Amino acid sequence: MNNFGQGIATGKIILMGEHSVVYGKPAIALPFNQVQISVKIYKTDRPITISSYYHNGLLDEAPKELFGIKQLIQIVMVYLKQPFFGIHVDIESNVPVQRGLGSSAAVSIAVVRSLFDAFDVELTQEKLNYFVDIAEQIHHENPSGLDAMTITSGKALFFQKDLGQSVISLKMDAVLVVADTGKKGLTKEAVSEVRKLWQDNPTVVNPILDRLEELTKNVKNFLENNEVIRLGLAMTEAHQLLKLMNVSDEKLEKFVDLSLKNGALGAKLTGGGRGGCMIALVKNIDDAIKLSDLLRNNGAVSTWFYDLKEIIT
Ligand code: MEV
Repeated sequence: MNNFGQGIATGKIILMGEHSVVYGKPAIALPFNQVQISVKIYKTDRPITISSYYHNGLLDEAPKELFGIKQLIQIVMVYLKQPFFGIHVDIESNVPVQRGLGSSAAVSIAVVRSLFDAFDVELTQEKLNYFVDIAEQIHHENPSGLDAMTITSGKALFFQKDLGQSVISLKMDAVLVVADTGKKGLTKEAVSEVRKLWQDNPTVVNPILDRLEELTKNVKNFLENNEVIRLGLAMTEAHQLLKLMNVSDEKLEKFVDLSLKNGALGAKLTGGGRGGCMIALVKNIDDAIKLSDLLRNNGAVSTWFYDLKEIIT
């Protein structure tokens, strides 16, 4: 079987502003090229089939985890004036699912790119955003759009819901260690529980959101001016604030503590939390290797290095 369409998308890392971004506060996120999703479209003579982490077989019989993707494929096929027939959608990914690295937005982006490529129709950024937003709404109810925008742009972004985004001109001589707790983080649940906390205790949660906003704005300056120590301190403070909103968990706490006690300049959870991944800031690759070994010896299922010097701006 020859594929006749292909689409690729990377992961993302939220440096600052997860959760508070849902309330209109700014966030900073980076594309994460070390994890990728590749979608290939093959011609068949059957109803649409799919092979993926969650399901191999008829798209019609896909489980609830693929509901957003199923809808997305159907909507895009209608747009492309194609029947719901005659293609196989093959999703290959090394983006760990539900770990805060953007797998759901990435899969939607790669699927849309692959279908447009297969039927040879030009895909503008605007159309891509439109379709990906539909799938993200199904996955997360009211997503901020941060994940999708970071992945489609491939740039370090300062993002604010409804206000737009700007590219950050990073000048950082430091490395992030990204560590996967191995536990699935349930973003949708975490977002709705933060909302409940905010509705029940606005006088507690609003000052937390305000401080996260201030820290995120400061971090933009730190990134532009190579202020590594201050960046680390801001990350750690953001983690403490996220913890107050109940989106941390035991393993994230253990990894953050371990990192800070072993030379990291800052550490925090990244993404929706309650499992998923954490990030720690270190000075250089040697320190990153040491910290990553330590985290793996203490239960991290995967670690990656992210050299902040290498970000395209
Ligand atoms: C999820 O990657 C980030 C959250 O802020 C949710 C969102 O932005 O929609 C937790």
